[in-house]
Amino acid sequence: MSNNNSANKHEIVEKNVGLMAILTVFAISFGALVEITPLMFQEDTTKPVDGLRPLTALEMEGRDIYVREGCYNCHSQMIRPFRDEVERYGHYSVAGESVWDHPFQWGSKRTGPDLARVGERYSDDWHYAHLMDPRSVVPESNMPAYPWLDENVLDGKLTAKKLEVFKGFGVPYTEQDIQGAEAAVKGKTEMQALIAYLQQLGTHLK
Ligand code: HEC
Repeated sequence: MSNNNSANKHEIVEKNVGLMAILTVFAISFGALVEITPLMFQEDTTKPVDGLRPLTALEMEGRDIYVREGCYNCHSQMIRPFRDEVERYGHYSVAGESVWDHPFQWGSKRTGPDLARVGERYSDDWHYAHLMDPRSVVPESNMPAYPWLDENVLDGKLTAKKLEVFKGFGVPYTEQDIQGAEAAVKGKTEMQALIAYLQQLGTHLK
């Protein structure tokens, strides 16, 4: 039953899909802003945890290789605060650990285990063997092998630039870090860089 009395103004919205869509977007955006905006200003989501340090030049190159090779397609870096996860992977991830990670590698796809705290869990030699041929150390593994990482040698030409860009994002690199970046990675293999990156993951939270 329709009439024009003011109690039925909602009909205007219900019978007008365009208006309904606009108001729905508005309602959801408002809700999201209320939830998200405070997180951008709260200390425990924006301040680095005690002990956090910027990635070294070599670790930074390793991080780029991690992204380039798509490791994040199978590995998350985000331990959720649930008992099963904490018992398996260690202390749940806190925001202050990834304030200098741009873009962060949290992810949610876990074909393989979470890597947020894999640092120092295995030796460099184990990682080397695992990345060259995962089945040599984990027979049932379906992770791909990455043997070319051991052949590709870094020239370090862009490393200083990368640190500079991250400095622009607020990561406290010094002039010395930036000046020394090329020399720190030149001649190292991509394998060495990736392993250096993996070995520091999640080791800063005290
Ligand atoms: C197709 C999915 C897939 C991709 C891509 C992948 N992994 Fe894995 N990864 C796995 C699986 C499955 C395991 C568990 C079996 C094993 O240890 O090999 C694993 C295990 C690992 C482990 C051991 C973790 C632990 O706690 O035991 C590390 C470290 C690792 N991967 C690093 C990497 C890196 C670095 C890359 C990118 C160069 C990568 N993975 C790409 C599937 C993948």
